[in-house]
Amino acid sequence: MQAYTPIEPVEILTARLGIPGEKIIKLDANENPYGPSPLVRQALSKLDVVHIYPDPESRFLRDALSKAHGVPAENLIAGSGADELIDLLLRVVLEPGDRVVNSVPTFGMYDFDTMLNYGSCINIPRNPDYSLDCNAIQKAVSDQKIKVIFACSPNNPDGRLMTTTEVEFLLSLPTLIVLDEAYIEFTQTNKDLGVGNTLIRRVAEKENLVVLRTFSKWAGLAGLRIGFGAFPNWLLESLWKAKQPYNVNVAANAAAIASLHDREYLADNVGRLQEERGRLFEKLSRLPGIKPFPSQSNFILCKVEKSSAKQIKLDLVSKGIFIRHYDNSLLSNFIRISVGFPQDTDELIRQLEGLL
Ligand SMILES: Cc1ncc(COP(=O)(O)O)c(C=O)c1O
Repeated sequence: MQAYTPIEPVEILTARLGIPGEKIIKLDANENPYGPSPLVRQALSKLDVVHIYPDPESRFLRDALSKAHGVPAENLIAGSGADELIDLLLRVVLEPGDRVVNSVPTFGMYDFDTMLNYGSCINIPRNPDYSLDCNAIQKAVSDQKIKVIFACSPNNPDGRLMTTTEVEFLLSLPTLIVLDEAYIEFTQTNKDLGVGNTLIRRVAEKENLVVLRTFSKWAGLAGLRIGFGAFPNWLLESLWKAKQPYNVNVAANAAAIASLHDREYLADNVGRLQEERGRLFEKLSRLPGIKPFPSQSNFILCKVEKSSAKQIKLDLVSKGIFIRHYDNSLLSNFIRISVGFPQDTDELIRQLEGLL
């Protein structure tokens, strides 16, 4: 299998390029430039139990999550990022050779963790607007035994939210659906942090639904590694058995709880990013040879029509601006830009105008 290519952190970029950290514009990993709530900083500065192992069941956090999301705490498991929970789930459900459906292009960890857990991914290309190819998924489910179907909504890298028709289609299948809602908080403009769109409460009624969430994006905690999942009852016993006992460290636990106490502050930042997404989209649309796709997330995918996406990425790196580029059969000559501060948009557009 191929190694996963992670994104480099600011301190490594700074050392490599000789550009001071504060000058780097990091728009390559869909992080939240506003960072965490001030309550998180307070909670971390007061941590006095770092010499003691954390609660293996993250009970305070799961209770707070249960209140925030209206899902019983028993159905929630916290993880060291949503990433850990993707791996944990596949470890538990996959037998060697089991098949997993993946609607590509999408987040790379579904394929990666499937391979790591001896599964085999059936990669079904999305339609040109990045909607799911429901007929192909239906056919795969009818023709072969499929253990898991991954669905990411809004999808990374295009930012499209699944429609109700797609959701109901998936939930009607006799297969476990793992719905990754890492970016759901960015989907509406009325600062409801995705409450109007999440399917998390349906886990209680649907035996075949798992919903994954993270604090990395909306709450600005990517560096602390904290996410959670809502799982149906029948999966819980095996997941708890297989989980590493101390998977969520004390700092991540405290930071996540503090974030839940400061949802209004964080929703304001999400609102700023939603507004900035609109402004970035407008400006990108006006650039020659760049076709941005509408996004409900904190990033925008663009087709590069005349120049080389890779060269654009490299030229931007030399200016201290980091974006993602793709050049594969599904995304040939594309870039993905995370939404940053307004001044990041201005500088990025200024540089792109010089390059195109
Ligand atoms: C779709 C998707 N799911 C999950 C993750 C990872 O989340 P976490 O930081 O909680 O591991 C990412 C990170 O970029 C992502 O894009």
